[in-house]
Amino acid sequence: MKNIKDIIKENIKKRGEISLSEFIDIAMNEPNYGYYIKQKPIGSKGDFITAPEISQIFGEIIGIWIQDYIQKLSLNKDFQIIDLGGGRGTLLKDISKVINNKNVNYIFIDINSNLIEEQRKSIPNCKHFKNISEIPNQPSIFVGNEFLDVFPIKQFKRKGDVFEEVFITLKNDNFIFCTKKLEDISSLQDINNYIPKEADFFEINTKIEEKISEIAKFINNNGGISLFIDYGYTNSYGNSLQAIKKHKFVDPISFPGESDITSHVNFSHIIYLAKKYNLNYFGPVPQRDFFLRMGAKLRLQSLKETLKNNKDKKNLENDLNRIIGKEEMGLLFKVISLSEKNKLIPEGFD
Ligand SMILES: C[S@@+](CC[C@H](N)C(=O)[O-])C[C@H]1O[C@@H](n2cnc3c(N)ncnc32)[C@H](O)[C@@H]1O
Repeated sequence: MKNIKDIIKENIKKRGEISLSEFIDIAMNEPNYGYYIKQKPIGSKGDFITAPEISQIFGEIIGIWIQDYIQKLSLNKDFQIIDLGGGRGTLLKDISKVINNKNVNYIFIDINSNLIEEQRKSIPNCKHFKNISEIPNQPSIFVGNEFLDVFPIKQFKRKGDVFEEVFITLKNDNFIFCTKKLEDISSLQDINNYIPKEADFFEINTKIEEKISEIAKFINNNGGISLFIDYGYTNSYGNSLQAIKKHKFVDPISFPGESDITSHVNFSHIIYLAKKYNLNYFGPVPQRDFFLRMGAKLRLQSLKETLKNNKDKKNLENDLNRIIGKEEMGLLFKVISLSEKNKLIPEGFD
């Protein structure tokens, strides 16, 4: 039986090497064996855990943020909340507990059939779509937690006008990194002002541009806003490629199809795209600041009051601390919102 490693090796043997982005794309999205297509990645038995799975406060606070924005919009017709890469459906379920509105519709966009099944159980009357272009035309609130990090990056090195791109080849039947001089740099011309003049590594995520441009088109036509939460950086560059397998970091190119290969999100790039596609942007702000401003501590207090056992109270507190703690996810993860061009300012930002 074929597996991802064999498929990638066949591709390398035909051409000598493949680009890093193609390697990641096959590993994660190959239609029969790709990681996102076949694995059950989230949870203690999977490879990683995400914030909505750690604490219900995460989704509830995002629900409050959405509820507030809907009121600001004075919406009194059908609208939809769309979870991009909805995981096990926990985030949207916690959001739905807060949204008090008969006109709301719940939508997931995902590609993993195991997770799609779990999403249906979480919200029985939800709808699923594969692409943003298929979603009904209604005012929309898009939410994406750890969604932007799933898309394959290209990596480059730069010395003045000389660019090299990172490729993967084979040595003794193992995958290794190599670089190739980029003869045609026209594809980088557009972003010339925004990429570093000299760098051991910088990363470009062309797929993110595709997604942001689709969302921009959608919310500029139908009205709405988006909220993205992810690990990432602003105003810097470097090598952020990583892979996680069974809750441990592993070599990013040694376990294609069996490990979650991701990279940190370049939030400066997201701001650049917001401007390019005519969206307002708010943030990025550290996850810690966003959730504290939106009342996470108050919600913790009221949940604790429903509990009798001190150990349960302490567990709730520890779970929230994993999300907002400075040494935990609180600073590394950031929140950014992109909206249609209107005068509204969403809560939680500076
Ligand atoms: C890191 S998980 C985050 C899950 C969830 N948002 C959470 O916080 O628990 C990434 C999610 O994106 C989905 N995904 C991966 N590639 C995708 C794509 N091209 N389009 C839509 N969803 C995708 C995965 O199946 C998974 O549900």
